[in-house]
Amino acid sequence: MKKKIDSSVKIGDWQLANPIMTASGTFGYGVEYSDFVNLNSLGAIVVKGISIKPRPGNPPPRIVETACGMLNAIGLENPGLDRFISEKMPLLRKLKCSVVVNILGDTLDEYCVLAEQLCDQDIAGIEANISCPNVKKGGVAFGTEARMVYDLTRKIKKKCNKPLIVKLSPNVTDISAIALAAEEGGASAVSLINTLLGMAIDIKSRKPKLANIVGGLSGPAIKPIALRMVWQVAQRVKIPVIGIGGIKSVEDVIEFMLAGATAVQIGTANLVNPSIAGEIVREFEKYLHVNRIHSAKELIKGLN
Ligand SMILES: Cc1cc2nc3c(=O)[nH]c(=O)nc-3n(C[C@H](O)[C@H](O)[C@H](O)COP(=O)(O)O)c2cc1C
Repeated sequence: MKKKIDSSVKIGDWQLANPIMTASGTFGYGVEYSDFVNLNSLGAIVVKGISIKPRPGNPPPRIVETACGMLNAIGLENPGLDRFISEKMPLLRKLKCSVVVNILGDTLDEYCVLAEQLCDQDIAGIEANISCPNVKKGGVAFGTEARMVYDLTRKIKKKCNKPLIVKLSPNVTDISAIALAAEEGGASAVSLINTLLGMAIDIKSRKPKLANIVGGLSGPAIKPIALRMVWQVAQRVKIPVIGIGGIKSVEDVIEFMLAGATAVQIGTANLVNPSIAGEIVREFEKYLHVNRIHSAKELIKGLN
């Protein structure tokens, strides 16, 4: 009899049908992609970042194409927590796949309020985007100081017992030190990387191409950096690592898993091909089958 292939992976007690997730900010609230992707086939959907109050985002232009990638300065535009719960949750609740809500705040208290209120919702977990400037600390991003990351993680964890993923910024000197702080604070997993700070200039007008001047670089251009960071972090922490950065094919997914990722998130690739996440899920299952890999878990940290 043919042995059944097991595509599932685990983050603590939380079982994902497969390791393919979508990255926050690149897949809307999932439903926008339902004509292109069988949402229930995904390991998880991570929705666009939610803050307590609605945010209008930055003025345009907020997106620029770059070599093998893009710069964005969307500015975390979102409808705010109340409207997210009343308008987006009813549809998300109907999905069979795991739904993760990405949260962002300007203060530690804001992260705690979001975690507490979302904990009552029918969601698989929370992903805390810690790349936001901490207004109380003069705008230093939460994710750049290990002590702040430890405090933030510990306090969010006290407010919500669902799985907590802490999403790390690559704009730091030592990302493993930040990952360790999240682990010590009680994070269930770390996801990395968020975008790298970048800039583009229009030489005719001699002006920055983005109204915000600087923005976050994403897409295939950042993949080697993301892969290196995932590999470094996976050697230091015991909690699962979720790999993000330039993933656009099943081969990329396998690379991230061999480097130590338990799961991955597809980001900018969704903006290029809206069907890509579903295609990668199917390709992943085919890859396991063709290569006689009986469990996806065998790939994690499989680097020789
Ligand atoms: C247009 C856009 C919006 C994004 N919005 C968010 C967000 O709201 N929260 C967040 O944590 N990351 C956000 N990100 C970062 C992505 O989730 C991801 O970490 C990053 O783009 C790297 O992955 P990629 O190269 O596959 O896109 C955004 C990225 C893009 C391109």
